[in-house]
Amino acid sequence: MISVMSEGDSFLEVQQVARHFGGQRALNEVSFRIPDDSLTAIIGPNGAGKTTLFNLIAGALSPTRGHVRFRGRQIASPNQACAAGIARTFQNVRLFGGLTVLDNVMVGRGGGGLMSGLLGLQSAREQERLRRKKAIYLLDNVGIAHLASHPAGEIPFGQQRLVELTRAMATEPKLLLLDEPAAGLNATETAALGRIVRQIHQQGVAVLLVEHDMSLVMNLAERILVLEHGRLIADGDPGRIQADPQVRAAYLGSEET
Ligand SMILES: Nc1ncnc2c1ncn2[C@@H]1O[C@H](COP(=O)(O)OP(=O)(O)OP(=O)(O)O)[C@@H](O)[C@H]1O
Ligand SMILES: [Mg+2]
Repeated sequence: MISVMSEGDSFLEVQQVARHFGGQRALNEVSFRIPDDSLTAIIGPNGAGKTTLFNLIAGALSPTRGHVRFRGRQIASPNQACAAGIARTFQNVRLFGGLTVLDNVMVGRGGGGLMSGLLGLQSAREQERLRRKKAIYLLDNVGIAHLASHPAGEIPFGQQRLVELTRAMATEPKLLLLDEPAAGLNATETAALGRIVRQIHQQGVAVLLVEHDMSLVMNLAERILVLEHGRLIADGDPGRIQADPQVRAAYLGSEET
């Protein structure tokens, strides 16, 4: 995939970022850039600051110091992030359990639904119909269109993760943040997820993947950033990261290796 030089350069820029919680430094002096066509993994032991970094990129938290810029602009809220083209999934699945799978996906598309109902406009109704069609299409892409009318809380966990991923895709993101999407999945589900993430990336969406499943990371990512105690300790391709003594030391004694 060929990226336009200037857009790629300023796509996502994390510059000297620190985030403190009280006296605790969850992130410190973190800087990196992500081009618009990348599939990059962020790894690191528990508590390294990975989810905090996602919260900063997605506008859910602001940095104590430094800047996060997406396509040249700072993102101040989750709504701004969504409007700018950033979508995410959560480490702990966040679905409306009592709503159908389809409605959970359509929630992610924002606006339109309520207004079309109130105004009863033909064009608004048509828009709603198209949104519904698109949501079904996206559910079909991940193999769960047959579950569209099921309450999301009643389907198996692995498929709930796919609903969350589909909801993120329904916003038509340019950047997709996946926070441990394989956690709680079995080997077959993880393999299927890997194929789905690769396909999303091939459609032109930049992906940032936080994941503890190292075989999935090594298999998918073209670049890996390693966080330890809030600091970026390595940045390179999978081969280089696997051979890095500092990375090996960071994982020593942890079950992930
Ligand atoms: N809202 C918060 N308030 C206080 N401390 C927080 C908050 N969010 C994160 N932290 C702390 O910041 C540090 C980094 O947490 P974070 O969740 O970003 O780690 P992580 O790399 O995602 O870990 P894991 O692999 O377990 O998900 C941890 O010590 C955590 O306790
Ligand atoms: Mg986390």
